[in-house]
Amino acid sequence: MSPIRPSPTRKGGGPLTIATLILATWAIASAQGRAGGGGADMAAQGEKVYNQTCATGYCHGVKGASGGAPRLASRGFDAAYITQVVRAGIQGTGMPAFGTTLSRGDLTAVVAYVGSLNGIAPTAALIPDRGMPRRQLPPEAAKGRALFYEAIRGFARCSVCHQVDGTGIAVADPIGKVPENVAALRAIASPHVVNATAEGSTFPALVLSKGAITVKLYDLTTKPPVLRTFAAAEVKIGGASNWSHNSAMAAYNDGELESVLAFLKVAGGGEK
Ligand code: HEC
Repeated sequence: MSPIRPSPTRKGGGPLTIATLILATWAIASAQGRAGGGGADMAAQGEKVYNQTCATGYCHGVKGASGGAPRLASRGFDAAYITQVVRAGIQGTGMPAFGTTLSRGDLTAVVAYVGSLNGIAPTAALIPDRGMPRRQLPPEAAKGRALFYEAIRGFARCSVCHQVDGTGIAVADPIGKVPENVAALRAIASPHVVNATAEGSTFPALVLSKGAITVKLYDLTTKPPVLRTFAAAEVKIGGASNWSHNSAMAAYNDGELESVLAFLKVAGGGEK
């Protein structure tokens, strides 16, 4: 079995559509003003997502204070700017694009939360996913979908390594075969994960490309896995790693994984 995989291909169009939808939702929400109800929920959800995703180690501070990354509170940002940066990131900086790694609901909520730190009211009608085209799923599968992308699982959520329905990071190849049950999910063999040795250490890796000059791989030591590029002479690709898929499941219990499987069975890998 060759450890070399083609670079993951991504569907075009998705993120832009999401940005448009968020802005549209925002505009509707602003027009409807203080209509009661959901605004506080939205802000609370957004703050939770923010604390898990943005206010981490080297990045932004709690409540928009500065950390390793700049302050976000009271900067006079407008909704369009916040949406754009959260969705697409800022090239050449440490700010990643969250347009495909957060669920639409979490994305909308976190944008609304950063907006609220800049004096933009998280208005009542701004409800995640409102008006967004999404297929209806049976209840169990819908629960599984939420779990798969759930930001409060931090970087241990499934979507940190898998893309389904255009959402998530395609570290692993598209999911082709959905395991029969939770035991099988935990026991998944990952034949493509190999031992790579570079800079004096050996680590589990998924090789994306291996040329005469450079080798590109995902280093699975950390969550999320890190995309690294080495000069071909500086890295040695060895045999199968003892990295286990089960080590990536720690954020979920068996009951939750049942629901996730129900989702994957309906979504059918979803990203052909
Ligand atoms: C840290 C990264 C990571 C996380 C988190 C992760 N996986 Fe995986 N997953 C992988 C890798 C790597 C493979 C094996 C890919 C290979 O060998 O080509 C894999 C394989 C799979 C497969 C088999 C796909 C196939 O076509 O055979 C399924 C199904 C799967 N994962 C589901 C999940 C689910 C559900 C979750 C969340 C509960 C999850 N994964 C979390 C990295 C991850």
